[in-house]
Amino acid sequence: MKRWIPLKVGCALTLLCVGLTVLPGEAAEISKDQTVRYILAMVKAFRTTYVRHIVERMKKVGVQSKEGWIKDAHAIMLPFEFVSRGGAKIKQEVQGLDVGLISLTPIDPSNLPKTPAEREALASMVADSTRTVLTFGDGDQFKGLAADIVIEQHCADCHNQHPKSTKRDFKPGDVMGAIVVRLSQ
Ligand code: HEC
Repeated sequence: MKRWIPLKVGCALTLLCVGLTVLPGEAAEISKDQTVRYILAMVKAFRTTYVRHIVERMKKVGVQSKEGWIKDAHAIMLPFEFVSRGGAKIKQEVQGLDVGLISLTPIDPSNLPKTPAEREALASMVADSTRTVLTFGDGDQFKGLAADIVIEQHCADCHNQHPKSTKRDFKPGDVMGAIVVRLSQ
């Protein structure tokens, strides 16, 4: 039994050395492209979960997701705010990282694309909904867009009826805009 001990120690040391040499190398190989894609996937997953399992469920007990929710004890934030407030928190934690929502036909003009490259990428997503994620360099930032799709009828209803809306014919399945991640290079 004893002769196994040096063998086990040897194996453990080898694994540790391999780990130490491989892990930092692998970490360095995670590209900006992958980083932006991971962040987009996470933000999208959390937002979809908020809409499907919180907004939809609360509606059944009379609690609406609406503008001005903060002053109403029986209301919760809009899906938009779930991303913008989360994005503001991320920005406090991680320098050079910006997360938000943009649209070519926004309710609020401050949600328009910030550069021609963003506009062009978003326009190509709206034209072809199979383009669900796009990444690209833009000046001193690396950016990614994930299509923000009308996943529930009430997204379309609220946007179509909003007094400040610039588009009134959204329907389920349409690309309404995109989650945007901007990472300083
Ligand atoms: C009850 C109304 C309401 C519902 C429901 C709603 N939104 Fe919005 N949404 C808004 C308002 C108002 C804004 C602008 C908020 C701001 O800039 O302060 C907005 C902003 C956005 C934006 C940014 C561009 C813009 O229009 O200003 C996107 C993209 C968006 N919403 C997508 C969605 C999607 C997708 C859903 C469904 C999952 C959804 N919204 C549900 C009211 C709503």
